[in-house]
Amino acid sequence: MKKPVKVAITGAAGQIAYSLIFRIASGSMLGPDQPVILQLLDIPDSLEKLKGTVMEIDDCAFPLVSGVVATADPMEAFDGTDYALLVGARPRGPGMERKDLLTANGAIFVPQGKALAAKASRDVKVLVVGNPANTNALIAASAAKSLDPKQFTAMVRLDHNRAISQLATKTGVSGNDIDKIIIWGNHSSTQYPDITSTTVAGKPAKSLVDQQWIESDFIPTVQQRGAAIIKARGLSSAASAASAAVDHMRDWALGTNGKWVSMGIPSDGSYGIKPGVVYGYPVTCKDGKYEIVQGLPIDAFSRARMDATDAELREERAAIEDLLA
Ligand code: NAI
Repeated sequence: MKKPVKVAITGAAGQIAYSLIFRIASGSMLGPDQPVILQLLDIPDSLEKLKGTVMEIDDCAFPLVSGVVATADPMEAFDGTDYALLVGARPRGPGMERKDLLTANGAIFVPQGKALAAKASRDVKVLVVGNPANTNALIAASAAKSLDPKQFTAMVRLDHNRAISQLATKTGVSGNDIDKIIIWGNHSSTQYPDITSTTVAGKPAKSLVDQQWIESDFIPTVQQRGAAIIKARGLSSAASAASAAVDHMRDWALGTNGKWVSMGIPSDGSYGIKPGVVYGYPVTCKDGKYEIVQGLPIDAFSRARMDATDAELREERAAIEDLLA
């Protein structure tokens, strides 16, 4: 057996965490031979509920769980942590404007970024799930001065998986047969699900579906999927969000074998997206590092959508600029 690694999960008493923790504990994220110490963080008001989750983790007698910490102190939760999944965030309350939401989340992600910089492993991999995920990741990265901003990523993998599922259903194949799908930009309704380079069982996706379907059905369905789930379930997506978080971290840590996945990462000028935002890009992962897939042709249709989601991210950034170090 390998030496245990430390995995921190925030919002640990919440609904995404209720799926996520058990997937990580069973080995879905880091493999069946990697023991984990779970470091669970929530706010003081949620600690009683978190106790119940910890009792259930105990009751699973997971062979891979070497320890569980439950705390309301980020310094304790991030102590030595190798992987941090930042799920806890402030939901939009009644009458709350977008700027209020962004600022309220800043109050969470600045101290968490600082605590990660102070306590986490120097190689920590951070995934922000809590919304607005891209801008929360930007805030945390900026507050974590002693860490590389590239260690902070945001989750667009749920959108990526949703896009695979929609295209697989439309073309009558399994999701496994879909390759090279991309989510560009923000995890929000301005995201751009792009199938320009996508193949379906080896054939170009664009030879199998028409432009009308892409524009009027595929793109809006993926963009609005979160709202559709809230409408149907009365609650936001949780198990699928947890599954996407597992996929994101597993691929980053263990590699994608050349397969493309979408990750929200600090923009570096690639594809005309200037540095300064956390933007969804196509990447491949190897040896614990991600690399943007370069050299893709961008037509006018894609360009307009990539720029629109970039503009939204820059508006979000402007609203919290004073929080950036
Ligand atoms: P939830 O409301 O069930 O749980 C959130 C938990 O976070 C609560 O237990 C709360 O006490 C905790 N929390 C709040 N502030 C905290 C802090 N400062 N430190 C630690 N914990 C804190 O929410 P749920 O459904 O689990 O969703 C969590 C977040 O994930 C939301 O922001 C949601 O919008 C987002 N989300 C993101 C997706 C993505 O694709 N990026 C997909 C689905 C949800």
